Amino acid sequence: MLDWDTLEAQCLACQKCALADTRTHVVFGTGSRSAEVMFIGEGPGENEDLQGEPFVGRGGQLLDDMLEIIDLDRKTNIYIANIVKCRPPQNRDPLNTEQDACIGYLRNQVALIRPKIIVCLGRIAAARIIKEDFKITKEHGQWFERSGVHMMAMFHPAAILRDPRRRPEAFQDLKSLQAKIREVCTHTY
Ligand code: URA
Repeated sequence: MLDWDTLEAQCLACQKCALADTRTHVVFGTGSRSAEVMFIGEGPGENEDLQGEPFVGRGGQLLDDMLEIIDLDRKTNIYIANIVKCRPPQNRDPLNTEQDACIGYLRNQVALIRPKIIVCLGRIAAARIIKEDFKITKEHGQWFERSGVHMMAMFHPAAILRDPRRRPEAFQDLKSLQAKIREVCTHTY
């Protein structure tokens, strides 16, 4: 396991897959490195690639609004990272080969943070982190536990923007996350 500085330096210079050729910035991750709650998305989009930060732009604003409902803040009490750190062209799903090349960085981040709770944003992250055949429509909001880490998936903010009828379910999932934080976290609230 690498320390934060070495890990970030290696990640920022990464050439392990072809996404390195088309990226503007590597999007390493952001937030508190002592967070008990970690959010994991799929990969950078256009705005994230331009700014080097996860979840900026419209989806990021919605994510911030959702976090605020349950008193979470991306800078102070959570950490946000993605499965792949570089933007797939035209925002296509990251290929399995790209995910395989990149996942070690995320695993190292998880090992350094040792979160109590992992929230996957969308199917791609849930399929990689929780289980391969994850069905986001059916299994969002359900809790899974592995090695003492509590995990759940919520709809991706972009999916909520595309279909606002998902908002009530997203709200329920946030309330469930809030309850789980109260149950297992000691310094998030
Ligand atoms: N979508 C993601 O999954 N991650 C980001 O960082 C931005 C958009």
